Amino acid sequence: MERATQHELQLARRMSRLGTETAFEVLNKARALERQGKSIIHLEIGEPDFDTPANVVEAGVDALHKGWTHYGPSAGLPDLRQALAEYVSRTRGVKVAADEVVVVPGGKPIIFFTILALIDEGDEVIYPNPGFPIYESMIQFLGAKAVPIRLREELDFRLDVGELSGLINDRTKLIILNSPQNPTGGVLTKKDIDGIARTIDDRNIMVLADEIYSRLIFEGEHHSIMSVDGMKERCILLDGFSKTYAMTGWRMGYGVMRADLAMHIARLMTNSNSCTASFTQIAGIEALRGPQASVDAMCAEFKKRRDVMVAGLNKIKGFSCRLPKGAFYVFPNITKTGWPSKKLADALLDDAGVAALSGTAFGDFGEGYLRFSVANSIENIEKALDRVGAWAEKNL
Ligand SMILES: Cc1ncc(COP(=O)(O)O)c(C=O)c1O
Repeated sequence: MERATQHELQLARRMSRLGTETAFEVLNKARALERQGKSIIHLEIGEPDFDTPANVVEAGVDALHKGWTHYGPSAGLPDLRQALAEYVSRTRGVKVAADEVVVVPGGKPIIFFTILALIDEGDEVIYPNPGFPIYESMIQFLGAKAVPIRLREELDFRLDVGELSGLINDRTKLIILNSPQNPTGGVLTKKDIDGIARTIDDRNIMVLADEIYSRLIFEGEHHSIMSVDGMKERCILLDGFSKTYAMTGWRMGYGVMRADLAMHIARLMTNSNSCTASFTQIAGIEALRGPQASVDAMCAEFKKRRDVMVAGLNKIKGFSCRLPKGAFYVFPNITKTGWPSKKLADALLDDAGVAALSGTAFGDFGEGYLRFSVANSIENIEKALDRVGAWAEKNL
């Protein structure tokens, strides 16, 4: 028989401030329902349903055979840092050197490390809401004040620059931007970016620009605040391989920042992960320098699915949905159903067999919305729309 626990688990107080990413919980619940024999259509997951391009897989396998199986430098392999510096210089139109790049296991660690390196308890961090839940979680975990800037549906889920200006004060240390945006698909325009830079003016406020969906844009172009004159030294650009090359499970992302900060982020890597897996970094060089047709094909497919999803949702009683300009999510307004978001998401999963996320999984300003990922086939998206439509007819 197991011995009863004698000692109470004494967690550090900060653990009570740690949030989560609900997508993983909903996925687990959906899988449990599937094990009971229920049919579920998965529209909750934030990862491309495509395979990693074959040339990238081959480069990774080849790297394993060639012995890239050892520790590497904490900041990343020099050849990958160089390839990334060239890629970011080209795509953001700003000169970046290899020592301004730090390679980490996924985009997420750049969020954690940036806040760890720059933010003290009591500092204020402005972050998008609804937004990727890890921002709020990490800000609060580290004892800083999380200040939400509301993304507004009437602005196609961009932020209002005037409103941002009103949130900045002497304690503001960091502003987090995310474009294209998770969960809304909102995309900041050049005018927004310039306006944000003007609002920050010459204040010593850093900007974490989460551009992990930078290659998934359906209308217009991607604009980075790093490209704005005078902003580079106050900017940490986050990008990665997960979404662009369907490499979520490889765990590889990067940050681009001034070299003196990059050194400290590399120290955090030394203290936590030692380094990003060496063979995945070799595959990363192939991803960047090899053919890009698969990225374009994936983007075109997401656009088609988005169109089907948005048109379908707009025909369902109680739903109204804007056309997102990037990423692979749609974020319908469901206030006219009269149902709170979480209850509706639960009902759609339990009764209709469609897994979606409640808007509130992305912060308080997500109430009144659901997030559907279009990382599933058009056939399944149509099936999901039929199911949600039938549910709405029956229950609303
Ligand atoms: C806005 C945003 N930033 C960062 C990430 C993290 O990406 P990764 O899987 O590379 O850590 C995600 C993943 O969903 C995301 O949506």
